[in-house]
Amino acid sequence: MKRIAILTSGGDAPGMNAAIRALVVTAERAGLQCVGFLRGFNGIFERAYRPLSTADVLHISHLGGTILKSARCHQLQEQDGPAKAAQILHELAIDALVVIGGDGSFRGCQALSHHYHGQLVGIPGTIDNDVDGSDFTIGFATALDTALDAIDKIRDTADAFERIFLVEVMGRHSGYLALSAGIASAAEQVLCPEYGEVDIADLIQDIQRHQRQYGHGSYIVVMAETMLEQGATALAKQLEQASGIECRAQILGHIQRGGQPVGADRILATKLGAFAIEQLLLGHAHMMMVGEQAGITCLYPLTLTGLKQKKVDPYLLAWQQTQWQQ
Ligand code: F6P
Repeated sequence: MKRIAILTSGGDAPGMNAAIRALVVTAERAGLQCVGFLRGFNGIFERAYRPLSTADVLHISHLGGTILKSARCHQLQEQDGPAKAAQILHELAIDALVVIGGDGSFRGCQALSHHYHGQLVGIPGTIDNDVDGSDFTIGFATALDTALDAIDKIRDTADAFERIFLVEVMGRHSGYLALSAGIASAAEQVLCPEYGEVDIADLIQDIQRHQRQYGHGSYIVVMAETMLEQGATALAKQLEQASGIECRAQILGHIQRGGQPVGADRILATKLGAFAIEQLLLGHAHMMMVGEQAGITCLYPLTLTGLKQKKVDPYLLAWQQTQWQQ
């Protein structure tokens, strides 16, 4: 193996740059040449890539976003897309491709694997922490802290005005970020897919119970995006009418994807980047995702990463729900 390529794909996640740095530094020490494709898998089709040496990545670990840019790639999903991409990788003499992204990006790797003769390895990078096979994904820890910073501030104004707040966090189909942000911010309620559909009557009852028990005060609901067809703002209006208490909606949105990665994300990214190269050199990493389970680096088949919905912490899920039952 002489030449490896790296790309970042799907929703960018803080810590992706630290992973790129670790990959490049470890690869260069092992005598490998590195290139980085730009804008995810699109960079392959567009032959848009840049050489990456240690000098290029010395001081990027603290930067949010990704120096390689990211994107979703429609061309890879076309019928002849994977074969075309593989052909270009062969022409560019890429012996291994490292993809930093989420399960959608790993599905792209699977499609590519039917045509590409080199090694393919995945590194989990998404704020959603929804990739099965690794306890945490790069970016989740930072996104959680960003959400908490916002929710703590919302608590101040919610307390001052004795209002209900609905705070919508990202997470696509997973409630990992919503539950974590809800627990850590001591939100009164969490709405996430793992609890099933939202029962608005139950929610109103709980707000009223809370008011009877603790008097007027703030009441924060942290909800995962995609929980409500009508959206947070419509629900806020509904709650305000039903409860007679002012209610505001706040959608945190893409600020959760940005910002300097926290230490935990930089460390995870560095560990997984270095481990990916070591495993590639040993020939063990093809069609594997490198991950971490209980603090130990591990390999997990890429084909399995999207099969199961990653479970959110069942203990915290149950504990948070007991608040409904008082
Ligand atoms: O997967 C990361 C993520 O931020 C999800 O939480 C969110 O649903 C999605 O990406 C948003 O995607 P886009 O930036 O394309 O709107």
